[in-house]
Amino acid sequence: MRLEGKNAIITGGGRGIGKQTALTFAKEGARVTVADINEEDINDIVKEIKDSGGEALARTVDVTDRTSVNGLIDAAKDQFGRVDIVVNNAGITADAQLLKMEEDQWDRVIDVNLKGVFNVSQAAAKVMKEQEAGVILNASSVVGTYGNFGQTNYAATKWGVNGMTKTWAKELGRFNIRVNAVAPGFVYTPMTEKMPEKVLNMMKEKSVLKEMAGVEDIANAYLFLASKEARFITGEILAVDGGVVI
Ligand code: NAI
Repeated sequence: MRLEGKNAIITGGGRGIGKQTALTFAKEGARVTVADINEEDINDIVKEIKDSGGEALARTVDVTDRTSVNGLIDAAKDQFGRVDIVVNNAGITADAQLLKMEEDQWDRVIDVNLKGVFNVSQAAAKVMKEQEAGVILNASSVVGTYGNFGQTNYAATKWGVNGMTKTWAKELGRFNIRVNAVAPGFVYTPMTEKMPEKVLNMMKEKSVLKEMAGVEDIANAYLFLASKEARFITGEILAVDGGVVI
């Protein structure tokens, strides 16, 4: 039980990587607040965790809305007493090449992937500072290291997430708060499964292991960074990409 007695909040916990992270954390003893804009999914996940003997709370949140985010942090604290770990996993794409990208596509992705991470981390860091302990984990991407065709907005957010991760590690270390990010390569999730076979094969080819990741691979990286084993790791962007970026 690597997260025994810990309380974790996972945004975008309703499906994909966030869902698997919620299940993995619960299996390792954490009490998990599963937070997502989509209410239906989180209720199912919380039921699954409770049915297997764990503790969990479902909370609808829109990470772009600061009132909604404050409500999430308060609800998790009220229910479980502390906020030990936050995984800023909620993220979206709205792809288009620079010359075709609409303002709305830019704004939506910046709002969720960048401002959302800022909103949740700021609210959580206030609680963690009082506790004199905490772990903040952010969802980055290989796209935040090498860019990607058609992803001006997404690349900007993931680069921004890396910058915020390092900045917060420097600002919050003195309060015993560690801040790290995980940068997945290409992972089979609802976000990627709609992509054409040709694109998926291209993604596999980019990995030196010639595979895409499963959601467990990313959840296990969050688990490690959240656990005591990573107590001296902060400000790090951990690539979990099968060698896409070496
Ligand atoms: P997904 O699309 O399967 O799940 C994202 C979840 O976030 C959904 O449940 C959605 O309802 C929720 N969400 C969206 N907007 C929200 C909002 N405003 N407030 C609260 N929740 C919201 O995505 P996936 O693939 O699991 O990705 C999770 C994270 O990992 C994202 O940040 C993504 O950028 C990142 N990532 C994913 C990769 C992949 O290949 N799937 C690769 C690299 C990074």
